Amino acid sequence: MDSLIAWAAWLEASPLGEQMRSSALLYPALNLLHLLGLVLLLGPMLLLDARLLGAGRAFSLPAVSQVLTPLAVVGLVLLLGSGFCLFAADAGPLAVDRLLQLKLLLIILGVANALLFRHLWSARLSDWDTHAPLFGRLQAALSLLAWILVMSLGRLLAYF
Ligand code: HEM
Repeated sequence: MDSLIAWAAWLEASPLGEQMRSSALLYPALNLLHLLGLVLLLGPMLLLDARLLGAGRAFSLPAVSQVLTPLAVVGLVLLLGSGFCLFAADAGPLAVDRLLQLKLLLIILGVANALLFRHLWSARLSDWDTHAPLFGRLQAALSLLAWILVMSLGRLLAYF
């Protein structure tokens, strides 16, 4: 924990941290990128998870997944990159903030869940509607919950 706090102090004092605080445009611009990433990750994930849980059966699941997954990946990459820059502006206090720690843990959980889902079930999407595995459905429900919580914790950081 001590080395994490020392690293956060170093990051906050680094040129990136200083730029993020001193530039009038950088923080708001990165915040907007964070929101774009949020829309690109949350929108597709919520739709894909809803489809996995049985909504919109008129739309072929492999096709839905093929369109939505790359968008979600772009959103995640934007969120991680812009989130790191926002974090750098105020890294010392944020590193010990329980809400941010919980948010990061849930991001790891959400990504691990998505990777495990792809590993286990990506070859079984074409007959999902007739033979959906219970564990796969639970993973879709967990994904919905995890991403909604991550989004909520991100917004609540400003208040607590
Ligand atoms: C990957 C999924 C993520 C989601 C869904 C997410 C979501 C959010 C949301 C909704 C906000 C509030 C934005 C606003 O009100 O303008 C936010 C702010 C923020 N996020 Fe994220 N975020 C993610 C990843 C990250 C990561 C990886 C980091 C840091 C390493 C991070 C650090 C921050 C910071 C520092 C803020 C500003 C908090 C404040 O207002 O003081 N985020 N995030």
